[in-house]
Amino acid sequence: MARKPILAGNWKMNMDHLEANHLVTSLGAALADLGYDPEKSEAVVIPPFTDIRTVQTVIDADSLPIAYGAQDVSTHDEGAYTGDISTGMLTKLGCAYVVVGHSERREYHGESNELIGEKAKKILDAGMLPIICCGEALEVRKEGKHVEFVLGQIDAMLANLTAEEVAKSVIAYEPIWAIGTGETATADDAQEVCGAIRVRVGELFDEETAEAVRIQYGGSVKSGNVKEIMGKPDVDGALVGGASLKADEFAKIVCFDLI
Ligand code: PGA
Repeated sequence: MARKPILAGNWKMNMDHLEANHLVTSLGAALADLGYDPEKSEAVVIPPFTDIRTVQTVIDADSLPIAYGAQDVSTHDEGAYTGDISTGMLTKLGCAYVVVGHSERREYHGESNELIGEKAKKILDAGMLPIICCGEALEVRKEGKHVEFVLGQIDAMLANLTAEEVAKSVIAYEPIWAIGTGETATADDAQEVCGAIRVRVGELFDEETAEAVRIQYGGSVKSGNVKEIMGKPDVDGALVGGASLKADEFAKIVCFDLI
């Protein structure tokens, strides 16, 4: 079965709930204007926690063809974890996806591959799908060790997942030096690592799992470069930061095959 492209907008710490209302409403309109076909690609928005209820309300009210999710989650179910959010809270709000292991969470919150793997399991147990992030820093790339480094992250993060769980998960390869810098990896750079991740998933699990798992590229994706990146055989989508904050621009990214 062909893998359906998944284009996800990671809003990061942007948009209050009023701005979120406006953005998701405008995104619905922009997708309709472009003739978006949800059978051909999947549109996902990942707002801050405080916007999720608003996003849910707008999407449900207008039956918009947009899925949504969260940027992080706790490994605990409930209790004395000040500031944390549980998977149960997210499923109640209709979240389909949760991003885990974004390089900004690794850098500013010290998240390890093991913790990220634990979060991914928790998300799957709750019936949502994880978008599991990986990617190397500039120094690692300069040494030519990026493939080896990313595969090390993959091995550790997927260690406690079953083949069935990995098959429905999304992996996002985001080279840190390309995030928010305007510097995009070339389509060939994206393919090199996404292809290597797929091969490794095949080795860790089986061929069927490798064929099923969706692998995104992230890092300065825009409407002007998305088509070339999506043209690569092992790139099944994009995790988009800055360009997902503009409805028209993100709609074009979701409809990459129409622009
Ligand atoms: P960017 O962010 O598109 O702004 O580079 C990507 C990401 O961090 O997911």
